[in-house]
Amino acid sequence: MKKLLITRPIAEPVLAEARALFDVTLAEAPLTEAAAAQALHDYDAILPTLGDAFTAAAFAAAGAQPRCRMLGNFGVGYSHIDVVAARAHGVAVSNTPDVLTDATADIGWTLILATARRAGEGERLVRSGQWGGFGPKSMLGTHVTGKVLGIVGMGRIGQAVARRGHFGFGMPVIYYNRSPKSAGLPARQVAELTTLMAEADFVVVTVPGGAQTTHLIDRAALAAMKPTGIFVNIARGEVVDEEALIDALAAGAIAGAGLDVYAQEPHVPERLRALDNCVLLPHLGSATTETRQAMAQMALDNIKAWADGGLPPQRVN
Ligand code: NAP
Ligand code: GLV
Repeated sequence: MKKLLITRPIAEPVLAEARALFDVTLAEAPLTEAAAAQALHDYDAILPTLGDAFTAAAFAAAGAQPRCRMLGNFGVGYSHIDVVAARAHGVAVSNTPDVLTDATADIGWTLILATARRAGEGERLVRSGQWGGFGPKSMLGTHVTGKVLGIVGMGRIGQAVARRGHFGFGMPVIYYNRSPKSAGLPARQVAELTTLMAEADFVVVTVPGGAQTTHLIDRAALAAMKPTGIFVNIARGEVVDEEALIDALAAGAIAGAGLDVYAQEPHVPERLRALDNCVLLPHLGSATTETRQAMAQMALDNIKAWADGGLPPQRVN
């Protein structure tokens, strides 16, 4: 039986299927670079996820011909895996696209609405026992319907966020993306990121993480936003200069931010946590029972395809 390492607990039915097919070891905590290298050395296949450090150094430490030949990643984003190094070491990598698109777009919208309507702040007020009752001028937020929605990264999730905005909230949609996209709705592509940041009332970031997009949203991009603008990140923390974002929020240079992801998860800077004009979620994008089971199944199905001598259907390298 092939040895499979699953780096975090997954849905029971999928775990049971994995145990029937493989000699499974179940880990509980993120793999450090050294642990990732050891795992590449010890197992035939690995089902890793976010936080597991499959860096170039981990592959180098595992040797030119590691025992492991397959990483069936749990998650669509795989910036924690150096896929070029994986390929150079003969390791196939797959991910879990599509099955999490709607759940993640829904979290994007949770953040848009919660930030615009000050839901986090309001919830804290009620729980504090300090709420003084309804007032015509109390806790005013900003209207969402009809405002301009700007998507940075018009891929699967970006398009799902845009569809909700266009069909549900009557929003004009603009987007910034590497290639042109046809999203099944009227959406205008802009050539410059700063144009999108300046024109949008709500900016939602849905590009992949990794070296190519690190600090894509930098201080200058944030400075281009309207003072009434709301910034939402459901992609990866590294895509945004977090210090610059905190400065913009603290100075009131933008109205608010809704964040599901952070630069150094699970660390969230104290300065950010102290601000009232942001809504902070603990990386919940795909966190529904149904979606997480579908992701686990897709990750396992890719490993099964590899074990049967075929091509993993969601191979990314
Ligand atoms: P996707 O379909 O591959 O979409 C990514 C889009 O970003 C593509 O349209 C791509 O354009 C564009 N893009 C990539 N690099 C770019 C750049 N440098 N400049 C401009 N546009 C760029 O991926 P997805 O399924 O929508 O997922 C997107 C990301 O969301 C994932 O990689 C993951 O990091 C994150 N995510 C987060 C959660 C969460 O829990 N918060 C859940 C799921 C996913 P091209 O097509 O032209 O390359
Ligand atoms: C979650 O962040 C994912 O990339 O699937």
